[in-house]
Amino acid sequence: MSEKQRIDEATGTSTVGHEWDGIEELNTPLPRWWLLTFYACVIWGLAYTVMYPAWPMISSATAGMTGWSSRGDLAKEMKAETERRAPILAAISAKPVEQIPGDEKLYATAVEGGRAAFKVHCVQCHGSGAAGSKGYPNLNDDDWIWGGDMATIHQTITHGIRAPEHAETRMSQMPAFGGMFKPAELSSVVAYVQSLSGSRPADAVSAAGAPLFAANCVQCHGPDGKGVRAMGGPNLTDKIWLYGGDEAAIRQTITKSRYGVMPNWNQKLDATTIKMLAAYVHSLGGGEAAAKAGVAAAAAVPAATPAAEAPASNVK
Ligand code: HEC
Ligand code: HEC
Repeated sequence: MSEKQRIDEATGTSTVGHEWDGIEELNTPLPRWWLLTFYACVIWGLAYTVMYPAWPMISSATAGMTGWSSRGDLAKEMKAETERRAPILAAISAKPVEQIPGDEKLYATAVEGGRAAFKVHCVQCHGSGAAGSKGYPNLNDDDWIWGGDMATIHQTITHGIRAPEHAETRMSQMPAFGGMFKPAELSSVVAYVQSLSGSRPADAVSAAGAPLFAANCVQCHGPDGKGVRAMGGPNLTDKIWLYGGDEAAIRQTITKSRYGVMPNWNQKLDATTIKMLAAYVHSLGGGEAAAKAGVAAAAAVPAATPAAEAPASNVK
């Protein structure tokens, strides 16, 4: 082919020697700007691999002369973030939990911290919006089993409810009334409980349940059925049900009783995180002011007596 190489008259450029039906290929040199850019890229690339982590080795990449790494960058950012948060966390830690809502800025920060911790530790039982489900209370409403001011919520989260093997946990257990009522008595108590919230009109059947309720239930649910927080006995008059308000669910609750367990968090989470969780739960809409703390203080006293009396066979 070499003999076909020649200088093209029109352009003054040599041909490569390929020819197809009289059409020849010119050996046009690469433009200078292109070549310079190309060499610059090669130099830049080589310099980069020397300066920065580049070549994969067995366990990690070559370190590079500058010592930079994205991991190191992250560590620096994390350290800066920890330092930024340290004074806030210290302020939360120093403030008594019931005083946190009084400090607007601190409260807002604590709520945000609590929101993050709630997503990790609490959603599996209380749901992502804290709306609860059967057996797991909704934390958004102002219907509190144990109480909704900061100190009471804090106590609940710290020590849990019926938390196994935790001496300071909140304790109270509804007895299983299965063997104690005759079938007709049971039906009338169920009817009476339903009539309390108006989900069933009061009639002769429910009226027959009233004295049975007065004799067996008021200790924990109150004479009017509105609940006794110190005993963890839910309000039965508000149509907000933990275990269901239809006849079958109420019958089941009364005959077998329930045993809702909320873990104590004082062994898993640090004190500041628990305070932030209390602030978050308090902020959800149902949070009560500390003015109601009279009720709360009673609730905060561990109800030790019913715990001691609680028959173990009721554990479902
Ligand atoms: C294993 C399931 C479970 C997990 C996890 C859990 N809870 Fe609970 N929680 C419960 C149950 C069950 C109750 C209701 C107990 C009862 O019957 O009194 C409850 C009750 C509560 C109450 C009391 C509500 C009231 O009306 O007085 C608060 C407050 C609460 N939980 C907050 C939390 C927070 C905050 C977390 C995360 C740190 C959490 N819970 C994680 C099961 C759980
Ligand atoms: C020793 C205290 C105690 C006594 C006595 C008691 N209860 Fe309860 N009751 C509770 C507690 C605590 C709960 C919540 C149980 C749980 O979450 O595990 C409860 C829950 C209930 C519920 C379910 C409420 C809901 O929202 O789903 C009903 C219904 C109920 N009790 C009815 C009665 C009736 C009727 C009697 C009397 C025959 C009675 N209780 C006696 C403590 C008691």
